[in-house]
Amino acid sequence: MAVSAAALLGIIGLLCGASVVAGEGEGDKWAVLVAGSSGFWNYRHQADVCHAHQILKAAGFPDDRVIVMRYDDVAQNALNPMPGVVVNRAGCLPTERDASTGEWDVREGCNVEVGCGRDYYGAAVSPESFINVLRGDVSAQRLFCEKINSDPTRFGGCEPKVLNSTARDKVFVAFFDHGGTHMLGFPAAWKYGAMRYVTAKDLRVAMEHMRSVDLYGELVLYIEACESGSMFNDILPQDVSAFAVTAADPFHSSYASDCGLRLGGVTMPCLGDLFSVNWMRDVTRPGHMKYETLEEDFDIVEEQTNLSQVCVYGDIESMASEHISSYLEYPTKPAGPRRAALRRHSSPRSGAAVPSLEAADAFLAASAIPELREELLARKRLREVAEANLAELAALLDVPQARGLHDIHDKSICHKKPDPSFADGAAGDDFFDCLRSTIDRFQDVCGILTAEDLTRSSSVFSRLCAARTAAQIERAMGTVCAPASV
Ligand SMILES: *[C@@H]1O[C@H](CO)[C@@H](O)[C@H](O)[C@H]1NC(C)=O
Ligand SMILES: *[C@@H]1O[C@H](CO)[C@@H](O)[C@H](O)[C@H]1NC(C)=O
Repeated sequence: MAVSAAALLGIIGLLCGASVVAGEGEGDKWAVLVAGSSGFWNYRHQADVCHAHQILKAAGFPDDRVIVMRYDDVAQNALNPMPGVVVNRAGCLPTERDASTGEWDVREGCNVEVGCGRDYYGAAVSPESFINVLRGDVSAQRLFCEKINSDPTRFGGCEPKVLNSTARDKVFVAFFDHGGTHMLGFPAAWKYGAMRYVTAKDLRVAMEHMRSVDLYGELVLYIEACESGSMFNDILPQDVSAFAVTAADPFHSSYASDCGLRLGGVTMPCLGDLFSVNWMRDVTRPGHMKYETLEEDFDIVEEQTNLSQVCVYGDIESMASEHISSYLEYPTKPAGPRRAALRRHSSPRSGAAVPSLEAADAFLAASAIPELREELLARKRLREVAEANLAELAALLDVPQARGLHDIHDKSICHKKPDPSFADGAAGDDFFDCLRSTIDRFQDVCGILTAEDLTRSSSVFSRLCAARTAAQIERAMGTVCAPASV
């Protein structure tokens, strides 16, 4: 008698189920995916994060091994011409409407909003919650989520989902947002509130903690942000089993991609980020996920991300030859023999690439919607105040504002010292304490910084703290900014 199809499926199910149980010595896998911005003009970061989640889901990751942080104000945004739909690539923008419903006809697989998690959304997307997630600090996170969940005045919420990994596990972290010298941005706590951020020190300390309490065997980070190399350059040791790939070197912008495209009569914000879209495109090419190593992925993504210098830090020697599937595919499927040499095709793009810093303003300026014109003006007003005060502050303290930019097409830039005036030890604790207190104090008395402004000015704050003490800078701020603060 033939075995019934149902019974056969049952057996296959059991076998597949069994293979999920990690083999001896082989750990589990976790992923943390973060979009650190809010606002429709920053559409691309949330599109990136949902695309990344889609890739992990397709590669078998169960939801309880992925932690997603995203503001979630894009899909249902009143400005979204495709309500409920978010796309990450130019090729995914529809060209036709459904004849009966009149809705845009979005190709299958293109809407990255489908199934996209949001373990942390709205106000719950914060530096504090991100660090709690990494540290696996469920008790701190419980308190944090109680606070957010019980605040009816703010959009947002969370369940205290944090890393609960072990010393045998592989952890993948992908971050998408604005950044600056030694910092990654997070949404302001309220509209036009002070910009929030995680510093390179915060991240380093969190990673040290993770290692000391055995939260990972190996850790891979892919970071999309301007000047993202400055999060790790001279900061991330080589012997902590961490491999960090950054969209840009420590000194330059990363790039938004697929910008300025129109849908019907509406200009869309940039749909993706060049580095992120490139790594996601690479790992989703047939066969690549399984056969490609971290190093091969890096080489391809570096070549394709031709407007910024992609950098890698950390345990390069021992981790570069690992298969990317060992981080992005769940459970482990052993890599078989290599099928064919990896093909490197160039990526057809129809949208423009724009420096990350300029993407939001370019979108706002191209719009005829009054609300967006007002947003642009409000941002300009904030910027004028902050820039003027910062220039005066730097002049008063005799710290040059401009810096000599290094050549961008030079891999060694990834490891260049920030600046001659940046003395040895500048990246020590005093420096980072100064950076945080200065930026926070500046936003209190001298002017609020938008994400882009923080990016633009972060190198100046770094230079101030490299050259002067926090007390000296605070005193100068009193002179420069106090009269305007009343
Ligand atoms: C973490 O994992 C352990 C062992 O698998 C489990 O007993 C514990 O309940 C988990 N903790 C949380 C907060 O999920
Ligand atoms: C970068 O690559 C894209 C796509 O391959 C190409 O169209 C563009 O001209 C390149 N830009 C530069 C500055 O090399």
